[in-house]
Amino acid sequence: MTDQLNTPRLPIDTTKNSILTEPLVDSFGRKHTDMRFSITERCNFRCTYCMREDQRFNPSSLDLTPDEILRIASIAHGLGIRAVRITGGEPLMRKDVVSIVKKLKNVGFDELTMTTNASLLSHTSRGVTMAQNLKDAGLDRLNVSCDSLNPERFKKIRRRGTLQGVTNGLQAAYEAGFEEIKMNVVVIRGINDDEILDFAQFARMSSILGRECIVRFIEHMPLGETGDEQTSWTPDKVVPAEEIVNLIDSKWPIKIANHQGDHAPASRWSFDDGFGEIGVIPTMTNRFCGDCNRLRVTSDGTVVSCLFSPKEARFRLRDKLRTGCTDEEIAQVFHGAVTSKKAAQNRNLDEPTILESPGAYIEGGSRGAQGTTMSQIGG
Ligand code: 5AD
Ligand code: SF4
Repeated sequence: MTDQLNTPRLPIDTTKNSILTEPLVDSFGRKHTDMRFSITERCNFRCTYCMREDQRFNPSSLDLTPDEILRIASIAHGLGIRAVRITGGEPLMRKDVVSIVKKLKNVGFDELTMTTNASLLSHTSRGVTMAQNLKDAGLDRLNVSCDSLNPERFKKIRRRGTLQGVTNGLQAAYEAGFEEIKMNVVVIRGINDDEILDFAQFARMSSILGRECIVRFIEHMPLGETGDEQTSWTPDKVVPAEEIVNLIDSKWPIKIANHQGDHAPASRWSFDDGFGEIGVIPTMTNRFCGDCNRLRVTSDGTVVSCLFSPKEARFRLRDKLRTGCTDEEIAQVFHGAVTSKKAAQNRNLDEPTILESPGAYIEGGSRGAQGTTMSQIGG
């Protein structure tokens, strides 16, 4: 590790005009303020819509270190990134996750959130839950994934872990003081679409009981081969967000929630009687590319301008970091990624972009034929 990495970072001086303070605006005028940071591609689950049962991962030595993460995040903050979501894989698989959260908190982002499968949130170390440690480290909000409220089906979809583990994790999170937790549900026709109303009911009950959980239904995306016939992506397995909204509305009337963020891909809906909220993420049926403000950094330090970006629009940072590059060079990589952004990516249901081999940025490219999964690219 170079001295540069060990030296405590000073905040970027935003009063000075330089490449380090130039906002990340793409060719279509979209200003980038939101970053998804995957800190590991490893996961203790093997969800059938996300990865293969025999998924192999890069050695963790290829993951960015906490100081490398801090360095990239500080530079991104100088470029105008204001919200960071820590993703994976499963971020809690990293033993140093709490120290990473602390470091990111100190950068000064307006919002620091994490997407997790929740299974490790209730685990304790010296009597303190992981959820509490994350809260104390400064994490603002949690997104939890859960695709079935039926224990057997949960196991079938996710291959590992249990529904009880998730509910224990949720309880630990509420006890630690997290509020308005979001629950991500990937909806797959014929697999769990019969649970849409159950999830809506869950959102309502959580609100009535004062532990609000906002359920967000995500359209199934074609993110590579996962070796599962039943859930492998085909257009007919996508349940359109509109259908989900109409179904819920016919049972419990809903209206668009007024606090919807300008750039939020999830459209938020609240129930007319005031109890509960749901969201839909129309990744396939609705193009929200028009006001996209997001960038991604993968666990091996690759800047990806879009989940659906082709190989040539992925920019490696890690090797630069490890050979002693300057902050300006890192900022340049971010600018390059943003400049490469297209007006919209092809997410046509009839002819979707299925991400290509991860060999482009996975060391050795050993999983070439498997396609890029969400765990590699960060949710
Ligand atoms: N389609 C839609 N959502 C997916 N996720 C993982 N793979 C897919 C897919 N193929 C979800 C996870 C997690 C979020 C980050 O992305 O369930 O909640
Ligand atoms: Fe792990 Fe999340 Fe992928 Fe499931 S969806 S295998 S929990 S990274």
